[in-house]
Amino acid sequence: MENASSLCTTSTTINGEAMIFTHEPQASALDVIRDQAGLTGTKLACGAGVCGACTIRVNGQSVTACIIPATALAHADVQTIEQHSADKLHPVQKAFLAHDGLQCGFCTPGFINEAISFYEDWRQQHGKGKSPSREAIAFAMSGHLCRCGAYIGIYEAVRSACAGEFDDVDTFSYPRLEGIEKVTGTAKYTVDVHYEGVLTGKLLGSPHAHAQVMSIDTSAAKAIPGVKGIIDVLDDPHRVVRYVGHSILAIAATSEEIALQAMAAVVIDYRLKDFVIDAVEAAQPNSAVVFPEKRKLTPNASEGPIPPGKWEGNVRTPLINTAMSKSKRKAIQAINSTSAEEEGLSQVSHTFTTPGQTHSALEPHGCIAHWESNEKLTVHTGTQSVFVLANELSSHYKLKRENVLVHSEFTGGAFGSKQGLRLEITATIDLAKIACAPVKLILDRLEEMTLGGYRPETRVQFAVSTDAHHEQRGMQCLAWGNCGIAVQSQVAPWVRYTYAGPKHCADYDVTTNASPARPMRGPSGPPAFWALESSVDALAHQLDLDPVSLRRKWDDSDVREALYDWVESVPEWRNRGKPGSSSGRYRSGIGFAIGNWFNAYH
Ligand code: FES
Ligand code: FES
Repeated sequence: MENASSLCTTSTTINGEAMIFTHEPQASALDVIRDQAGLTGTKLACGAGVCGACTIRVNGQSVTACIIPATALAHADVQTIEQHSADKLHPVQKAFLAHDGLQCGFCTPGFINEAISFYEDWRQQHGKGKSPSREAIAFAMSGHLCRCGAYIGIYEAVRSACAGEFDDVDTFSYPRLEGIEKVTGTAKYTVDVHYEGVLTGKLLGSPHAHAQVMSIDTSAAKAIPGVKGIIDVLDDPHRVVRYVGHSILAIAATSEEIALQAMAAVVIDYRLKDFVIDAVEAAQPNSAVVFPEKRKLTPNASEGPIPPGKWEGNVRTPLINTAMSKSKRKAIQAINSTSAEEEGLSQVSHTFTTPGQTHSALEPHGCIAHWESNEKLTVHTGTQSVFVLANELSSHYKLKRENVLVHSEFTGGAFGSKQGLRLEITATIDLAKIACAPVKLILDRLEEMTLGGYRPETRVQFAVSTDAHHEQRGMQCLAWGNCGIAVQSQVAPWVRYTYAGPKHCADYDVTTNASPARPMRGPSGPPAFWALESSVDALAHQLDLDPVSLRRKWDDSDVREALYDWVESVPEWRNRGKPGSSSGRYRSGIGFAIGNWFNAYH
């Protein structure tokens, strides 16, 4: 390493090729590998040495490139995933393909580099033919996260490669058409796309949980050389920010450093307001109110339209609640009976809570926008709905549909949160328009955790009652969902359409000064079915009944009858121990539960 003015020069060898990087002293190994060597198979996800997506091999050791300085690569032998191209796959890559140890593929290069290091150590110590234990593989891979949850395939891939099952194997089948691109790091995600002369976009978010934006002065920021555009993106008609991180401005500049300088130079005058974060507190009559003004548009945490609702403080009651119940009076009577014993009723009643759960896709939300002319727009973004987004863009920007091109070749995890015309997409497009240049805006990890989306926090009061003949006499599901400033937690519908019998079901949204929740994998189904199915099990346990028989008695669904038949045919289920019979630190058991999504009416 040599110093030339304030920049450093680092000479290294990557994948057998000598390279020299000139970089800022604080640049990471990941920065130079991606930005200067153009080796985008090495991914940035957490940026903190936690997830392993950026794992490379330096002198035969796997290291996380995001937390080592670029200078640490000096005179080293560096291997990135691109070392092993499609025509000379490593046995570990073949095993990942064959065992489908991947889904979105964003974590895959990091996993594979780690697995190659483990494979080499294992083979040196044990030769060919011996498989590592699951514990040994888990320990070796413990620095890696796969948000898609492809662990079963990953573990089997590592085991089989270490055992030598893919040595000297040239022909093998694999299920994933795009697998080769993913295991060789050639799959291009939005974060990997580069345009010549592209500007960096950044969002400036509120540092306050609730405040009126009185004025914004961008004059000093605009005067900074390299700042190419600043736009107002505050989406609240009352000029109020309602959560920390609520986007106010978007800035385009010739580098990230300049964009950050510009953000620091913006002066915003806020008038602070009372705020509330806790949902129980927010539901109290004397709580700070998130929307004291008339609500015009509230973000939607679900995938369906927002039905009309009635507001009281922060609590919203969807009017559709009336349709959620069935023989409501009977259900309430059974649940609240003061003579349950005389009537021969048995009942369980519990409160189930689930925390908000962020989507945490390894590839952050982001966009690259390029106006090829005033009439023609090209957008790259990880999205679950390419054509829907293109249609939305066409209508939003009043462009002919054929003049809007949306690319989403690979998406590094979405889970429901990458759909629709999100703010970072329109901000990027608007910046590109005023700057007359392509703009790339990628959320950093903190923004991703704030703006990316999450499954709402829920609190579900669930009660179920049965008579002496074990007929269901009433079920009650009262669900409160905290979607931040959004609405539509929608837990109750799933209960309404599962099991026959009287039901009292109601949903309530409790708004808080938190970022809006987004749809997440079977939105609201998991909290609903967890409460429902745990309650049925608890009742069966209390009555010393078989949980399948009790469900059969209550269920009028042919589809689920077939499921119950199957459950009873499973030997592990038939031979299960009594509840509580497993002891020790690690306990095991077997259970089953039902769940629906879009087939709720079966
Ligand atoms: Fe480097 Fe997560 S460990 S990006
Ligand atoms: Fe592992 Fe998607 S395949 S994060």
